Amino acid sequence: MKITKICCIGAGYVGGPTMAVIAQKCPDIQVTVVDLNEARIAAWNDADVANIPIYEPGLDAIVAEARGRNLFFSTEVEKAIDEAQIIFISVNTPTKTYGKGKGMAADLKYIELCARQIARVAKDNKIVVEKSTLPVRTAEAIKSILDHTGNGVQFQILSNPEFLAEGTAVQDLLHPDRILIGGDSSEEGQKAIQALVGVYSNWVAADKILTTNVWSSELSKLTANAFLAQRISSINAMSELCEKTGADVNEVAKAIGMDSRIGPKFLKASVGFGGSCFQKDILNLVYIAKSYGLNEVADYWEQVIIMNDHQKRRFSNTIVQTLYNTVADKKITFLGWAFKKDTNDTRESAAIYVADALVNEQAQIAVYDPKVSEKKVLADLDYLETRTSAQNKACVASFEDPYLACKGAHAIAILTEWDEFKEYDWKKIYDSMQKPAFVFDGRNVLNAAEMKAIGFVYHAIGS
Ligand code: NAD
Ligand code: UGA
Repeated sequence: MKITKICCIGAGYVGGPTMAVIAQKCPDIQVTVVDLNEARIAAWNDADVANIPIYEPGLDAIVAEARGRNLFFSTEVEKAIDEAQIIFISVNTPTKTYGKGKGMAADLKYIELCARQIARVAKDNKIVVEKSTLPVRTAEAIKSILDHTGNGVQFQILSNPEFLAEGTAVQDLLHPDRILIGGDSSEEGQKAIQALVGVYSNWVAADKILTTNVWSSELSKLTANAFLAQRISSINAMSELCEKTGADVNEVAKAIGMDSRIGPKFLKASVGFGGSCFQKDILNLVYIAKSYGLNEVADYWEQVIIMNDHQKRRFSNTIVQTLYNTVADKKITFLGWAFKKDTNDTRESAAIYVADALVNEQAQIAVYDPKVSEKKVLADLDYLETRTSAQNKACVASFEDPYLACKGAHAIAILTEWDEFKEYDWKKIYDSMQKPAFVFDGRNVLNAAEMKAIGFVYHAIGS
């Protein structure tokens, strides 16, 4: 089947960049990205590409090239569904906040709404692609909804999970390690798989496109995130042991990473991983394992989250203890609020939890992040519902200038590994701070010897 029209439901961190790259690489395919969020779609359509809603290095140029040619952003969901041969579902699948599975299971209400809408609108056969990260066997539920509420047309469900990381999304999409497509073993299922393989073949080598059954594909996505997050919790566990024993976690990570069986990536000790997916996907995995009665499997993976929560708490505790057991009314400056560098995304960022703990101790928090606004910082804290908005506002302020943010501070905490932090005039910052001047480097980005030579009391993770 020759694919000429694709639609994607969900114009978020995955739908937007993924479809922009498909449109750039497949000029003969019309790609329409739809969303219910009018403000988000308006931002994607902003005449100035600097204002698109997601900051990702290189994304603005791709959107500028393809938008209006074969890439469109719209709120007309039904029209896009009606016209498309392939429909990607890329809506959010957050952790449930209510009912059965609260705090663990994935909330699939947005997915079900999409399935019902596709069923209602579709007047010819469609390929429906799960791009969102979903519990294993969700395709079965989608298929059941489509087949029972549709107009008698045929649907093929494919699982095509996304492995991009934020901050490097464009490079990850242009040069993926692999593309995973799961589908049905029937002849129709295999044809659908080949139609999607045909789209990716425009820029991805055949040996990197992996086809599997649907369940393997769905479970591989959860497994990949669990393994990645587990490496971070493993090195973070070692960081605490390093601090007690005089070992240096950077040296340990380098030493083990040179073992080709372990490899060097994802061994950077930190204040704890954040982002919208690692915690959500592991909780989801734990929930699935428990629902099959696999308690040892569930406990094994849950420990990754327990360790990560411990690491965030440990960081705020260290700050309080080092500052003579009180941070009340002390200015503590956060450099970085995003969950990692090169993104404006703050979902589940460690900074939120560290700030919350320090505000509980009545600290005054000053925040500087090159891509995150004060409004977002306050909204993130309000979302925790630890205290009122007015109380958060009285304790937390953002700055546009990092030097001003650090002026008069008792301590600086580095929460995100933005490259620019390494380039600052640290002597100038030191001179403007209260003494002793403390730096808690939650990302190990600064040079310990240089910081100590300036006069800072410098704390890194894991040394
Ligand atoms: P997001 O919240 O940024 O975007 C989801 C969008 O879907 C929102 O704009 C929302 O308005 C829209 N939406 C929800 N229901 C809708 C409906 N019925 N009709 C139209 N639009 C609707 O989420 P995201 O970060 O892009 O993640 C989407 C999925 O991809 C999740 O399952 C996530 O686990 C997975 N994923 C995310 C990443 C990542 O780096 N963020 C990477 C890989 C996979
Ligand atoms: C992660 C995965 O890397 C992607 O493959 C996956 O597609 C995505 O989740 C998803 O499913 O959403 P992302 O969360 O965007 O991507 O970013 P990562 O680079 O994985 O970083 C996650 C968190 O771990 C960040 O807070 C980061 O700072 C932290 N991290 C990462 C460490 O603390 N140490 C490391 O060595 C690596």
